[in-house]
Amino acid sequence: MTGKVNAPHYSVLYKEILDGLKLSPGGRYIDGTLGAGGHSYGILSATAPTGRVLGLDADTVALGIATERLKEFGDRARLVQSNFARLAEVARDEDFAPVQGVVLDLGLSSMQLDDPQRGFSFQGDGPLDMRFGSVQGKLTAAIIVNAWTEEKLAKLFYELGEEPQGRRYARAIVEARKQTRFETTGQLAALLAKLGGGRASGRDKRPIHPATKVFQALRMEVNQELARLSEGLAGAVEVLAPGGRLAVISFHSLEDRVVKRFMQLEASDKIVPEGGPPGLSFPKEQRLAIITKKPLEAGPDELAQNRRSRSAKLRIAEKL
Ligand SMILES: C[S@@+](CC[C@H](N)C(=O)[O-])C[C@H]1O[C@@H](n2cnc3c(N)ncnc32)[C@H](O)[C@@H]1O
Repeated sequence: MTGKVNAPHYSVLYKEILDGLKLSPGGRYIDGTLGAGGHSYGILSATAPTGRVLGLDADTVALGIATERLKEFGDRARLVQSNFARLAEVARDEDFAPVQGVVLDLGLSSMQLDDPQRGFSFQGDGPLDMRFGSVQGKLTAAIIVNAWTEEKLAKLFYELGEEPQGRRYARAIVEARKQTRFETTGQLAALLAKLGGGRASGRDKRPIHPATKVFQALRMEVNQELARLSEGLAGAVEVLAPGGRLAVISFHSLEDRVVKRFMQLEASDKIVPEGGPPGLSFPKEQRLAIITKKPLEAGPDELAQNRRSRSAKLRIAEKL
């Protein structure tokens, strides 16, 4: 089985997701990050003829592509534009709970990242915005880049971008904006390109464009991606039926940490208050069992086909 289904788009860890969800014919599944609909396509194919998917995506363009791709499944695929932070609410509204599985394949797809007009890309030129989804906040990448202090920018690039050169980049941005405001992605990318640096983290140590991690940090901040992830994970546990599985692919160590900690906490029967005296804990309900002690990663074949898979980590847990 391959992740490339009917479209020039690879679903990361495709087989691992389908196996990991322990799909059952006729089951109900939520795909919180539809994207091009690749994972959903696999789920609907494997659970034919009556399995169903409720698919969410915050992005209207992705939703349009997934609608086209999943057309052949008719009303077995129900697609809704929503942030996955609202997953439990949408499932209830659609009368689609409890479910046998939830999948989250985080981040943006390459088709979103590569479209210069969307403003996520440092390769083309677009407005420095980076908000995605229908319910958008007021914060844009332009506001951060033009108004935040050097200290705040450096912290952002270091923490959300894991960019070791964050402080140097922040200083250069603050210096450059004294002359002119940053309005476009091209302007910011050109400045960072002049400064040099840029190295991938994780398993792939090849050089990357110096803007890669800065753009990632801006996007994550603008869309409050870590906070939305925590809300989505909580919603997923709420809607899972006993024995149902939660499968989450992350591409960033901070996201992976949120997923790992969430699963560990839900798999424990006690809470240890932070900063409390040694040995202090309170009993609580254990709601998950961890299936993947270590996260699953892409094998050599997938790595050769799709560079994006290099930083993918899949964690799976089962509702008790
Ligand atoms: C990597 S793509 C998913 C690809 C998909 N699994 C496939 O096989 O085609 C991630 C998708 O999740 C969406 N997304 C990211 N964060 C989201 C959020 N908080 N709520 C809803 N959708 C989100 C993005 O718009 C994007 O379309």
